[in-house]
Amino acid sequence: MTDQATRPESGIPGKPTSASRTTLSHIMTASDTNLLGTVHGGVIMKLVDDAAGAVAGRHSGGPAVTASMDEMVFLAPVRVGDLVHVRAQCNWTGRSSMEIGVRVLAERWNESTPATQVGSAYLVFAAVDADGRPRPVPPVIPETERDKRRYQEAQIRRTHRLARRREIQELREKRAAEGIDN
Ligand SMILES: CC(C)(COP(=O)(O)OP(=O)(O)OC[C@H]1O[C@@H](n2cnc3c(N)ncnc32)[C@H](O)[C@@H]1OP(=O)(O)O)[C@@H](O)C(=O)NCCC(=O)NCCS
Repeated sequence: MTDQATRPESGIPGKPTSASRTTLSHIMTASDTNLLGTVHGGVIMKLVDDAAGAVAGRHSGGPAVTASMDEMVFLAPVRVGDLVHVRAQCNWTGRSSMEIGVRVLAERWNESTPATQVGSAYLVFAAVDADGRPRPVPPVIPETERDKRRYQEAQIRRTHRLARRREIQELREKRAAEGIDN
């Protein structure tokens, strides 16, 4: 693992994971439901994007935009009257991008039963300047063993995202060079 606190290329002092970790909580109401009567997945995705955006803004110290959202998993339905907690943290940083990991938990709003995990997602945010151009971010400094595992796993996802994008681009260029019309 790269030593984020001393990584030379950024020149910006690192920030620990805990400095930007955020939880967003929201009670689900009837206006959040789909035609089946459970909470619409898009409502949860909006909360996930909001919580991740707060982490990205806090970590990078300014505006940041969602570049991608992947591996959004819904493990169990969310119902009206559930108190949903969206926990987000910065797992990994590149030059201008940050991977934000999100866990979604739900508990009945008026019962003292433990919250259960109902979803998770990984988002990439890019920090941008006033003109919307990518700007460098502070390296994240993983603190706990869990943070370090998440950092290493985020690096694997980053490698796969880049490789997939490159392979698809190469395939499209090859088909175009062969004169294949889409
Ligand atoms: C995200 C955005 C700023 C990237 O700009 P760009 O000109 O492509 O700049 P770059 O190629 O240098 O990418 C910047 C960083 O984002 C990462 N990135 C860009 N697109 C990505 C994607 N689809 N998935 C993952 N990472 C991505 C790059 O790897 C790079 O990371 P690094 O600096 O840590 O190495 C630009 O595409 C954008 O503004 N998109 C719209 C964002 C938005 O409006 N979101 C809300 C949707 S409503």
